[in-house]
Amino acid sequence: MCGIVGAVGLANCGDTLLDALRRLEYRGYDSAGIVTHNGAGFEITRSIGKLASLDSLIRKNPLSGDVGIGHTRWATHGGVSEANAHPHIAAERVVIVHNGIIENHRQLRARLEQEGHLFSSDTDSEVLAHLFVEAFDAGLSLTEATKSVLAAIEGAYAFAALVLDHRDMLIVARNASPLAIGLGDDASFIGSDAIALAHLTRRVIYLKDNDFAFVTAEGAAVFDAKGTPVNREEVIVAASQGLVDKGGYRHFMEKEIHEQPDAIAHSLAAMTGADGRISAPMSRDQLHDITGIVMLAAGTSHYASLVARYWIEGLARVPVTCEIASEYRYRKPVTSSFSTAIAISQSGESLDTLMAMRHAGENDLQTIGLVNVPGSTIAREADAVMPTRAGPEIGVASTKAFTAQLTVLISFAVALAEVKGAITPQRADEIQAQIQAMPGLVGKALTSFDAIRPIAHDLASARSALFLGRDVLFPLALEGALKLKELSYIHAEGFASGEMKHGPIALIEDALPVVAMLAADEVLGKAASNLREASARGGRIILLTEEKAVAEVDFAESVITVPNVDPLLAPILLAVPAQILAYLTAVEKGTDVDQPRNLAKSVTVE
Ligand code: F6R
Repeated sequence: MCGIVGAVGLANCGDTLLDALRRLEYRGYDSAGIVTHNGAGFEITRSIGKLASLDSLIRKNPLSGDVGIGHTRWATHGGVSEANAHPHIAAERVVIVHNGIIENHRQLRARLEQEGHLFSSDTDSEVLAHLFVEAFDAGLSLTEATKSVLAAIEGAYAFAALVLDHRDMLIVARNASPLAIGLGDDASFIGSDAIALAHLTRRVIYLKDNDFAFVTAEGAAVFDAKGTPVNREEVIVAASQGLVDKGGYRHFMEKEIHEQPDAIAHSLAAMTGADGRISAPMSRDQLHDITGIVMLAAGTSHYASLVARYWIEGLARVPVTCEIASEYRYRKPVTSSFSTAIAISQSGESLDTLMAMRHAGENDLQTIGLVNVPGSTIAREADAVMPTRAGPEIGVASTKAFTAQLTVLISFAVALAEVKGAITPQRADEIQAQIQAMPGLVGKALTSFDAIRPIAHDLASARSALFLGRDVLFPLALEGALKLKELSYIHAEGFASGEMKHGPIALIEDALPVVAMLAADEVLGKAASNLREASARGGRIILLTEEKAVAEVDFAESVITVPNVDPLLAPILLAVPAQILAYLTAVEKGTDVDQPRNLAKSVTVE
């Protein structure tokens, strides 16, 4: 999603802003720009494409000034062009950067154009700059002007404005889209998230919805929607500079795949009680009160919820429904049969998931945020938080956050099952031991890079691929297909193996790659015969399985094994070769692995 940065009180801040934008690259973007105020006027540089283009323009024409704002844009309203790249200037007096969508921009623009305002982009964002000019022309003070702009706009937004006549400050505001204010010693900063500011300061203020603020070198004056001054707590964020580099790997994704043993171990630590047993970060009574769960998530996080449904229903006998976050509140769901909503989100900022969680909260469900970014909006708004501790995930395609989510969810399922008395102490001990072994087992699964390379080489020339799994591995088939399509742009679909015969088997033709996930579980025989049917019709079976299940599928063309594991936990282990396969196929095809086309890391629009 679009990224916003800003600085005030920092001499020649252009380079610092460019640096901060680099830290937001992981969110995805297709153009970028920076503006500074040099004391006499604005200096603006914008460019389509990667930040390297913006960088070379700035090298030729360095930006001067100690206040400025920058932006990485991911096109929504208006195509990818320099004119549509932010910042946007109105009447040479106000310049803005914006993240989100101004839903009523058409009406606002029509009115402003009638009044004589000249627009130079197709974006919804530009209305913000013109609304400020209109308010200043009407003689309003800074505070009154900001209030009138906020009253006029509808939608989710975070924005920053720089005003020609007020070069000592930035005006910022947010509603639903994230915005952090960083406090330095002699300067202040703004960023879409604290990672953007990690090299500048760890002292951060998060604005609440509908807040606005005037940020100066000395700090920030924050106001609520009514314009009443409010005190928003300053927090010290954990993000540090060293956490966001490739650490010698070719891509962030490759690094993050390798970080999974650590991500799992750290996440487990957050779910381990003083007695060394896995538990959930809530009291026995709180667990006991959970009688029905609705899981809210998007994309890969949604697939983690689908896996967890098998675990929670199977072990704890608590009913679970999994909802695609963007669908949830609009279909007016009946919420009365659930006590609890778990919102799963790596970023903690996916607007679909945030809105779904708010809807659940408004309908009296207790909300739990399962998030990877501690200070994120979902973390701050949920009634309780179950953290994953995967560290910053920079590659757009989720990897370590997914296996960390699964780790927390299986731990939660066991803790819930124990409190509910739905599991024997012996079975609980068995699963606990397997969960504790997971970092080591995942470490072993990581050794399959070389074995997967030739398979990826072949897969790279396929036009389409199927992913099959049964039982708890069915959601993993969906996740495997998503990873392949988003990274390598090869069409891929995931199916429940048993469902093939009800239609999708018609897709099988000679040499179609069929990636099969298999565990030595109670459906092994059935899953293997589903694969045999696909193979008999020409499907090329690429088997990802644990060692003890290999013999069952002696017709597979390629086999990648992971260590034997309790079948319940197979999705965590088999996620690893599925990720490596998608990664290596993308590398083979030469796609932009860390920032696949059209994708954004944190999707803060609906
Ligand atoms: C796919 C992927 C996305 C995200 C989805 C939700 O690899 O990363 O599908 O899982 O956009 O994002 P979060 O978990 O941040 O809410």
